[in-house]
Amino acid sequence: MAKIRRIGIITAGGDCPGLNAVIRAVAKKIILARGAEIIGIKDGYEGLIHNRHRKLSYRDVSGILTLGGTILGTSNIANPYRYAVKQRGKLVFKDLSAVAVKNIRKLKLDALVCIGGDGTLSIAYKLSKDGIPIVGVPKTIDNDIRGTDITFGFNTAVAIATEGIDRIHTTAQSHHRIMIIEVMGRSAGWIALYAGIAAGGDIILIPEMPYDIRRIAQRVTERHRKGNKFSIIVVAEGAKERGGELVIQKIVKESTIQARFGGIGFVLGEHLEKLTGLETRAVIMGHLQRGGSPTAYDRILATRLGTKAAEMVEERDFGYMVAVRGGALVKVSLKEVARGPKIIPRNHPLIAAARCVGTCFGD
Ligand code: F6P
Repeated sequence: MAKIRRIGIITAGGDCPGLNAVIRAVAKKIILARGAEIIGIKDGYEGLIHNRHRKLSYRDVSGILTLGGTILGTSNIANPYRYAVKQRGKLVFKDLSAVAVKNIRKLKLDALVCIGGDGTLSIAYKLSKDGIPIVGVPKTIDNDIRGTDITFGFNTAVAIATEGIDRIHTTAQSHHRIMIIEVMGRSAGWIALYAGIAAGGDIILIPEMPYDIRRIAQRVTERHRKGNKFSIIVVAEGAKERGGELVIQKIVKESTIQARFGGIGFVLGEHLEKLTGLETRAVIMGHLQRGGSPTAYDRILATRLGTKAAEMVEERDFGYMVAVRGGALVKVSLKEVARGPKIIPRNHPLIAAARCVGTCFGD
C-alpha cells in the first residue's frame, strides 16, 4: 500500500458539540501513527471551492477536546454541485464541483475526512463518485443520519434541552401555565423525544406524528381539572398539525437546507390558549442546543469515531461513513447515508415507554 502523506479534514453543515474532538482524534492518530500531514479545509465546502485551508499540527489539535463549535469553521450554504452566485442581481446556481475536485487534487490529499450531517454526507457521496477518496463521520445534534444508531452532538443537545425544560417546569408550576418548549429537529424528533422523556414532558410533539390540536387541548384541560394546573409541551421545530402546514420562518434559496424552521411553539401556543382559555407561553431553545462544550459521552463517542475514521483512511476504506451499531463501530456506504434522514419509527420502544407513563403525542 502506498504511504499516507497528507490527509484533509473538513467540517461542513451546522456546527455541533464534539466537532473539535473528532478533528483532534483523526489528526492525532494519523500524526502519531503515520507522521502524515493534516490539512484542515476552512469553512466547509466554501473552503473547498475557494481553496481555503490551513495546516494542522499536533499542537493545533491539542487542547480542543472540550471546545464547542469547530476550529475549522463551517458553512451550511456552500454546495459545490449547486453553488449560489449573484449575477446581475439575480441568484443563479452553478455546478462548481470540478473546481472543488481540482482543489483537492492540487492539495495532493491521500484522503478527505468529511465530518457532517445528511446534507454534507450526501455531497461527500457525490464527491466520492467523482473520484475523491472520502471517509465520512456522522455529525448532528438531530441524530437523524441513516445507518448509525447515534451521532455525536446529540447527547449534548439532549442534555441542554433537558436542563432547559427542567427550568421551565418550575416557572410553569408557579404560574399555572401551559409552557411550550420548542427544540430542534426538522424531519426527525429525536431531541424532542429524548429530552421530553428525560424532563417528564406531558406532551411531546414530533414531525413523524402530526398532532391533533383537540387531543392536546383535551389533555391539558383534563390535567387542569385533576389539579395539575400546569402542562409542559415539548415540540420539535418540524412538528405540524394533522392536515396543517409546517411553520417556516423563511426560505433561504442559496442554502443546502432551504427551509429555516422555528415558531411552531408560538403558533401552537396561541391556538391552545384560544381553545383552553389557559395562559400559555412558548420558548424556542434554538441554537443554544448546538453551542458549548460536549458532554463526556459525546467526547468519548467523537474520539471513537475519529480514531476509527483514521483507521479507515489507513485501510483505504473510502466511500464509507463510520457508524455506531449496537455499541460497535462499523462502516456504512455513503450511498446508503445519502438516502435521506433517519426518522423515528412509530413503534419505537421509547414512544411506547413514554405512553406507559402517560405522555401524550397529540395523536
Ligand atoms: O441540522 C441541525 C440543525 O440544528 C437543525 O435542527 C436546524 O433546523 C438547523 O440546523 C438550523 O440551522 P441554522 O444554523 O442554519 O439556523
